[in-house]
Amino acid sequence: IVMKEVFDIRSLEEDLVEKLGVREVHICPGDSDETPWVQKEMGRAAFQVMKNNLLPENNVIAVTGGRSIANVADMLIPDASLKETLFVPARGGLGEQVENQANTICATMARKAQGNYRLLHVPDQLSKEAYASLIHDPAIKSILEQIRAATMVVHGIGEAMTMAERRNAEESVMEKLTKNEAVAEAFGYYFDRSGEIVHKVLTIGLQLEDLERIPTVIAVAGGASKSEAITAYMKQSPNRILITDEGAAKEILMKL
Ligand code: F6P
Repeated sequence: IVMKEVFDIRSLEEDLVEKLGVREVHICPGDSDETPWVQKEMGRAAFQVMKNNLLPENNVIAVTGGRSIANVADMLIPDASLKETLFVPARGGLGEQVENQANTICATMARKAQGNYRLLHVPDQLSKEAYASLIHDPAIKSILEQIRAATMVVHGIGEAMTMAERRNAEESVMEKLTKNEAVAEAFGYYFDRSGEIVHKVLTIGLQLEDLERIPTVIAVAGGASKSEAITAYMKQSPNRILITDEGAAKEILMKL
C-alpha cells in the first residue's frame, strides 16, 4: 500500500509539472486544510529543495510572510551548506501579524540555519510620497540592493479575497478585486484566473519582474481551498518550483 501511495504521488507530480508547465513539483500526502501537520511536511520538503538549489557561495535567500513560509522556518535545522547564507525579506510590510511577517520569518530562518539576516522596516500602508522618499534613503537602498541580488526566493500563495480580508484592505480595494475577479495573491500582487495582475500593494522590495532573474523561485502552498489560486499564479510562472499537498494537487488536476 505504501509503495502504491508513493507511486500515486509521483504520477501526480509529473502530471502537475506538465499541466502547469513548471520546473518541479513536490507533493506531500494529505490535505493541509484538514490536517495542519501536512503544512509541516511541506515545510520539510521546502527545506530539502532549498538545500538542493544552493549556489556554491554567496547565497541570498529572500522570503515572504504567511503561515506556509513560517512552517518552512520551523522545519529548518543547522546545515553546513547554509552557514554563510544571508536571509532577507522579499518585500516590505504587507499587513500580516508579527509571527507571519517576512521579517520575523527571515530572522527565524537565519537563527535556525546559523546564517545571517537583514531586515526591511517599512510600514504596511505606504503612501506614494512615503514610497518615493523611502527608496532614496541610504540604509534602505543598501538592503534593497541585497534583496534584488537574491539567488533564491521562497514565497507563499494565497486566495485573493482571503488575503485582502486578512490585511484589512480598504473597501475600494475589495471592490476592485471583486470587479476584476481576483483569485490569487503572491508578493502583494493580486491575480485573476488567467494570471493577469489586477492589483498591487504599494511597498518596496522585490517586484514581480525581478523574479525572472532569480535562479531558484520556490512557492509553498497547499490545501484544496488554494487550488484555484495556485493554478492562476503558477501557470504564469515557468521555471518555478512548487511545494504543495495532495489535497491541492488533486483539485488542481481535476479542474485543468
Ligand atoms: O502576506 C504574505 C504571503 O506570502 C502572501 O503573499 C500569500 O498570499 C500569503 O502570505 C500566504 O499565506 P499562508 O501561507 O498563511 O496561506
